[in-house]
Amino acid sequence: MSRRADLHTRLDYARAWVRGRTEHRPVVGVVLGSGMGALAERIESRVVIPFEEIPEFPATSVPGHDGKLVVGLLSGVPVAVLQGRVHLYEGASSSDVTFGVRLLGWFGVRSLLLTCAAGAVNPALAPGQLVRIADHLNLTGANPLSGPNDDRLGVRFPDMGAPYDARLGELLDACAARLGTALPSGVYAGLAGPSYETPAEVRMLRILGADLVGMSTVLEVIAARHAGIRVAALALVTNLAAGHAVAPIAHDEVLEVGSGARERLGPLLAAWVAEAGR
Ligand code: HPA
Repeated sequence: MSRRADLHTRLDYARAWVRGRTEHRPVVGVVLGSGMGALAERIESRVVIPFEEIPEFPATSVPGHDGKLVVGLLSGVPVAVLQGRVHLYEGASSSDVTFGVRLLGWFGVRSLLLTCAAGAVNPALAPGQLVRIADHLNLTGANPLSGPNDDRLGVRFPDMGAPYDARLGELLDACAARLGTALPSGVYAGLAGPSYETPAEVRMLRILGADLVGMSTVLEVIAARHAGIRVAALALVTNLAAGHAVAPIAHDEVLEVGSGARERLGPLLAAWVAEAGR
């Protein structure tokens, strides 16, 4: 099918194809960010489908982003997991970036947990810490809803007064408390990247009210809300943002901290899915 086909048709086509590959019909979805892809190994009786095999799915090219759809059982709950994601900085459009989340919704997902790596803009946050995203600043300059609206996908002007679902967020807080994992909440600033921020930009972000900065998540939240999907989000602080950092920020370190925090993120994810899937 041509990329010129409308999004509704492309989603229908991709969904039909994925449905032919698995009997699972998940209502809970997860997106695994940089360095967190290995968490998909916790999923039982899983079907793993590389993005590039899914018709109409825009593929990714970044090391550390595996780019697979994993469907299976986590805590006994059917889940659909995007292991890796597509980013604006790859040259992808905001429509490409959000295709995966839209496909999850098309597939039946009603509650979604987004995870991402982030730099700490708030100096009270430290690398290795998990933070629940309570709100965001979309500073990417892009929006997945720009262009003509297809009313079958969602409304023209979706409300963003409560982008992160209160109940799903409370579930995260409760699961973290039960597991003894500290989980502060914060505001995530989403930028296009791929260059990291300058110290002046980090000072600006702090003045704007950001606690975290990253290069993903915000467009996915907009597309998910447009599709009526409830959203919760977790950031893993991988580094102090520029100006606070003592050494240049390296992508390898971002991935390394990601894999070190897996021991806390894995149980939290499993506990949250168990509750969200009820
Ligand atoms: N800036 C932007 N994106 C990031 C960072 C950062 O410092 N760390 C991880 N993703």
